[in-house]
Amino acid sequence: MTAVAPPRVVLVTGKGGVGKTTTAAAMAVESARAGRRTLVMSTDVAHSLGDALGIDLRTSSTWEHTLPVEDHLHAQAVGARTSVAADWGTLRDYLLTVLDSVGVDPVVAEELTALPGADEVSALLTLGHHATSGAWDVIIVDCAPTAETLRLLALPEVLGWHLDRLMPAQRRLLTVMRPAAAAAAGLPMPGSAVIDVIATWRAHMAQVRAMLTSERASVRIVLTPENVVIAEARRILTSLSLHGYAVDAVVVNRVIPVDDDPWRAAWNAAQASGLETITESFHGTPVLTAPYLAGEPTGPDALADLAGQTTCLHGVLAPLEAPVRSQGLRVEPDGVEFVLVLPLPLARSGDVDLARRADDLVVDVGGVRRVLALPSVLRRCIVKNAGVRAGELRVRFVRDEEVWPRGR
Ligand SMILES: Nc1ncnc2c1ncn2[C@@H]1O[C@H](COP(=O)(O)OP(=O)(O)OP(=O)(O)O)[C@@H](O)[C@H]1O
Ligand SMILES: [Mg+2]
Repeated sequence: MTAVAPPRVVLVTGKGGVGKTTTAAAMAVESARAGRRTLVMSTDVAHSLGDALGIDLRTSSTWEHTLPVEDHLHAQAVGARTSVAADWGTLRDYLLTVLDSVGVDPVVAEELTALPGADEVSALLTLGHHATSGAWDVIIVDCAPTAETLRLLALPEVLGWHLDRLMPAQRRLLTVMRPAAAAAAGLPMPGSAVIDVIATWRAHMAQVRAMLTSERASVRIVLTPENVVIAEARRILTSLSLHGYAVDAVVVNRVIPVDDDPWRAAWNAAQASGLETITESFHGTPVLTAPYLAGEPTGPDALADLAGQTTCLHGVLAPLEAPVRSQGLRVEPDGVEFVLVLPLPLARSGDVDLARRADDLVVDVGGVRRVLALPSVLRRCIVKNAGVRAGELRVRFVRDEEVWPRGR
């Protein structure tokens, strides 16, 4: 059997109501009409993908269940019950109880890494299934508004954080205590099946994260040329970078066609200034513009029309087949010290808070937190200083003499 090439995955996100669903659906129709086997899936619980496509799209009950729309194009709305994650709520509570019983303060655990809901777990597991099924060339994901999307994208690491603490603890419990003794001591003792399920999810999540941070995946931010919307889009770009996700384009939707009618001309001027801000803000990222149409673009033909009228204002949009250039986290040796570099476009030094907790570095940028498991070399180091320069967070580490073998 020959290995199938993984699909190209594009996540579409942005502020509420800017046109994420419409943009995702239009991109999907365009991709399918170019002959690619395309799946457009909605992970937003307030699904409106069906309305945009002009079809009756119910939340699917299994991950395999996708609805054919036209040649090469399928759609799917994912909910909590679409994948095996339906029982996540129970497991989530269990996880917190076990952490508590083995000495990890559940308040600290929650504070560090807010555990997501079943919808999010289900969305990622379903995406992971599709990404490895071999059935698709392109998967476009219509995401919920920004905050939920960030929580979704942080999930694989968050779950990993919890499970890394749970697994050894669980093993300890199982080896030192027999179930009856544990029950007498009031400790939760799940069947090993539960642990197996969680461990399997963990492995799937790690795969999904590897896929989403690979050169086959990117995020597109949809926005409209208005200041409030632009400000939020800037923040999400920084946050996505913090989590290691590449943004390969921003899509400016609802650009009003130029006209001399005074009302329109006033909007044209305001939007032109917004577009200028966008070009400056997202320097280096291709900026696409989509016109404000006279009516709602619903149904594949209207969406194809919108995609056809979407043009690249700045930069060059690479074809979907091209690998995504993503600049992830890296460690640069500097003499006897090390610098951890995390590209954070648009972040200012004052926006960033850092804390070291054991082998984790907790990075807070404008209220969004990432718990970074430090690469092993840095675990034996201590933080010397940190700052943001030229769109990069640079954290300098020096060797911890107490744990570093002498003479090395
Ligand atoms: N370029 C456009 N021209 C005209 N109408 C548009 C355009 N883009 C989107 N719309 C309309 O605007 C409304 C909102 O669009 P859409 O549902 O795509 O936004 P969204 O960002 O997905 O919203 P939500 O945050 O609620 O998911 C829809 O009625 C859609 O048909
Ligand atoms: Mg939507």
